[in-house]
Amino acid sequence: MITGAARLAGVVGFPVAQSRSPLLHNFWLARHGLDGAYLPLAVPPDRLETAIRGLQAAGFAGLNVTVPHKQAVAALCDGLDAAATLTGSVNTLVFGADGRCLGSSTDGAGFLASLQAAGIDLAMAAATGPALLLGAGGAALAIAAALLGRGMPVLVANRTRARSDALAARLPAPAGRVAVIDWESWPDRLGEAGLLVNTTSLGMAGQPALPADLSRASDRLVVADIVYVPAETALLAAARARGLAAVGGLGMLLHQAVPGFSAWFGTTPVVDDEVTALLAESVGRPAG
Ligand SMILES: NC(=O)c1ccc[n+]([C@@H]2O[C@H](COP(=O)([O-])OP(=O)(O)OC[C@H]3O[C@@H](n4cnc5c(N)ncnc54)[C@H](OP(=O)(O)O)[C@@H]3O)[C@@H](O)[C@H]2O)c1
Repeated sequence: MITGAARLAGVVGFPVAQSRSPLLHNFWLARHGLDGAYLPLAVPPDRLETAIRGLQAAGFAGLNVTVPHKQAVAALCDGLDAAATLTGSVNTLVFGADGRCLGSSTDGAGFLASLQAAGIDLAMAAATGPALLLGAGGAALAIAAALLGRGMPVLVANRTRARSDALAARLPAPAGRVAVIDWESWPDRLGEAGLLVNTTSLGMAGQPALPADLSRASDRLVVADIVYVPAETALLAAARARGLAAVGGLGMLLHQAVPGFSAWFGTTPVVDDEVTALLAESVGRPAG
């Protein structure tokens, strides 16, 4: 239902046709019978500020922000939450009634929420050992910060060592809580880890698979892969075959969207089997 009083939000990216956010948010709007709409907004980088200011002036409640604008949009915000400040990346904007534009980064919290929804007890995983984080890109930084925030030490392995060193230097962790290891050595560290997280693009459709030898893993290892195309990666399949708990990336994709929807439309949406199946079906076919 859209009336003259509808609340409006959308996702700003360039291109934006690959985004599943319109499908997700409009599903939730319909499910909750809310008077609102969520639009895909293709905005080239040189029009970003004009578009953000214009959408705010037009009465939008807020926006999601995706590639390539996640860093640039931070400079347009009047305030940032702790995760956005730390990562220098914003995926959610809320336009306040006071005219302020507040930016947040919900990826880290979305990842933690996806573990919880899958029945993973993070404290128990942390009691087994540190998180072994593969990758050192934007998603890795958000997840490392979130795990450290929950008291879980992090071992980072990335193909490009300089990037994992730079990631570790950005994290405000006490000595010993973050360590960088060589990319080739991560399978040797599986025995001591409580959580393995793939944040590289390996395993994504069109990319090589992540070599998934889990033979040295502890029986209590939890394996998470934030790749969500395909929903079931070779890493997750290998984990399940070994009897390990395995969590895919769709849950993170869904849970990172909850805070924005809640702020814009005033209702906290539920991530359940129906919406998970909707997204799984959508990522299984080409976007656009
Ligand atoms: N589930 C979700 O909600 C969610 C959210 C965000 C991202 N993701 C997924 O997470 C992945 C990373 O996203 P991002 O934004 O962090 O990307 P990014 O900043 O571009 O980082 C990519 C990472 O993948 C590594 N990598 C790429 N190709 C590799 C290869 N052939 N061998 C070893 N490592 C390789 C890179 O290593 P180098 O530094 O050596 O290049 C880097 O660590 C993507 O698959 C993305 O779809 C999922």
